[in-house]
Amino acid sequence: IFKAVLFDLDGVLADSAMEHFKAWKKLADDLGIAFDIDINERLKGVSRMASLDILLEKASRSYTNAEKIQLADRKNGYYRTIIEQLSPDALLPGARDALLACRDMGLQTALASASRNAPTLIERLQISDLIDYIADAGAARHSKPAPDIFLMAAKGVSCDPQACLALDDAKAGVQSAKAAGCFVIGVGDRETLDEADAIIPNIAAFRPADYCR
Ligand code: BG6
Ligand code: MG
Repeated sequence: IFKAVLFDLDGVLADSAMEHFKAWKKLADDLGIAFDIDINERLKGVSRMASLDILLEKASRSYTNAEKIQLADRKNGYYRTIIEQLSPDALLPGARDALLACRDMGLQTALASASRNAPTLIERLQISDLIDYIADAGAARHSKPAPDIFLMAAKGVSCDPQACLALDDAKAGVQSAKAAGCFVIGVGDRETLDEADAIIPNIAAFRPADYCR
């Protein structure tokens, strides 16, 4: 029987994948590097530095580590400017109800997001009061698809990972939650998320009661 639900944030609760894309696109334009929504697909669930490495695959020169840190910071500045203006409108449809349904069933809730901006974003979305614990992406040794962030989230709500439902919209996220030992619900399409234990098209289709009978 499940005791907690571990949520990814970007693309599961929040419509923020597009905001990440806009910020990366602005950086790519600054650098004169080709970047589009298809390449962006590969950045989902991936850490900031790993995302930058993917973006720089198309660069005409190489960048030093010091330069890369500056570029990642610049992208983060662009992203923060965008999210500071967000309101609860940026919640995906059904996200708030999904969190409320967990509350109703006495399930703990935690965030297992790769984003270091997760605390700011949930403030802007006004859902902080519905989330019991936020795993700190900055403290994870290995990023998704490694299990670290889901293990930290389970620990944060004092549950065995086996007693946790996990929701993620990215392949790397599904792999991370599987490796942690959670029951994994992929949010999106079956082809991309084929390693998940169950698939729902979006968060509006999440009914915790379906998994707790
Ligand atoms: C993930 C997003 O949730 O967080 C990625 O899907 C993003 O696109 C990653 O790169 C890291 O986010 P941040 O806010 O720490 O740069
Ligand atoms: Mg995601």
